[in-house]
Amino acid sequence: MAEAPFGLLAELTHRCPLRCGYCSNPVELIRREAELDTAAWRSVFDQARALGVLQVHLSGGEPLARRDLPDLAAHASGLGCYVNLVTSGLGLTPERLADLAVDHVQLSVQDADQADNDRIAGVKAFRHKLKAAQAVHEVGLPLTVNAVLHRLNVDHVGAIIALAAELGAQRLELANAQYYGWALRNRAALLPSRAQLAEADRVVAAARAHTDMEIVHVIADYHEAHPKPCMHGWGARQLTVAPDGTVLPCPAATVITGLGLENVRDRPLAAIWHDSPSFEAFRGTDWMREPCRSCVRREIDFGGCRCQAFQLTGDAANTDPVCSLSPHRPAVEAILDAATPEDLRMRKATL
Ligand code: SF4
Ligand code: FES
Repeated sequence: MAEAPFGLLAELTHRCPLRCGYCSNPVELIRREAELDTAAWRSVFDQARALGVLQVHLSGGEPLARRDLPDLAAHASGLGCYVNLVTSGLGLTPERLADLAVDHVQLSVQDADQADNDRIAGVKAFRHKLKAAQAVHEVGLPLTVNAVLHRLNVDHVGAIIALAAELGAQRLELANAQYYGWALRNRAALLPSRAQLAEADRVVAAARAHTDMEIVHVIADYHEAHPKPCMHGWGARQLTVAPDGTVLPCPAATVITGLGLENVRDRPLAAIWHDSPSFEAFRGTDWMREPCRSCVRREIDFGGCRCQAFQLTGDAANTDPVCSLSPHRPAVEAILDAATPEDLRMRKATL
């Protein structure tokens, strides 16, 4: 039987005031009418806690778009979970924050200054983010700043680090863009060059020597020799519940056709976690083919990302093609060689 999951990513809604072109949510967003209601989300949290979940990430879209967010946060907190609010900051006033039983706030920034941030966000967002960070600071909650890096902002990584420090973040996540959903459509606009990445690595390493802030730097996997240990293994540590109640082994799993995804409206969460074909499909290492099957790294990176394998090779059971040992690696090299910068295509705001 699978071990208990540690974390639940609760995608309360896909609605969002921002229009980021690097968004990895699905291209077809779940509509408001299809979202789980308050009672259903409470039940999800009850079931998740009974299953062993200790961390609940209230995410989206923009979770503040849900009017029942205070109720949902209080419910998860009342179950003894550590509650993390993942937000763009738009709408996070001191009054709303005072009403939220959360333990931690993760605030996104798109770039280091107002003009660049708002260009990438597609709306005027920067000033709201500064105010949101101030509100978090005033109530004494820990703050993580998250910045997705790509061709348009990676040259500003030093200024982004300085901004996070100015905002009082204890932790900064610098996550290179992952090419799922809308970001896959914009891959040519977003892919950085090797020279950009090398310079960013140098800047981050230098900054680490001069700050107490924890800096997490997530690799740009297309440019690496080995893939990321996606989800720390499929169905191993975390599960995601989409706005309509679909239970996902990873946030992007809807891209894999034929997975047999199930919904909390139809089956208990524990049964889905333990028995669903969608969770069993790539759990552990038995599903692996060569070269992963006999590779010394198979329990380090778990063969990489199933969604990426599906998107780039058509078969989710293949080795992640960013791996230099994959027979499909030439397809990634071809993408990198062909990458000529395009204009970013923005999402529609969906509030
Ligand atoms: Fe990881 Fe598989 Fe590549 Fe080995 S062959 S490094 S397990 S992706
Ligand atoms: Fe789905 Fe990596 S994003 S397994």
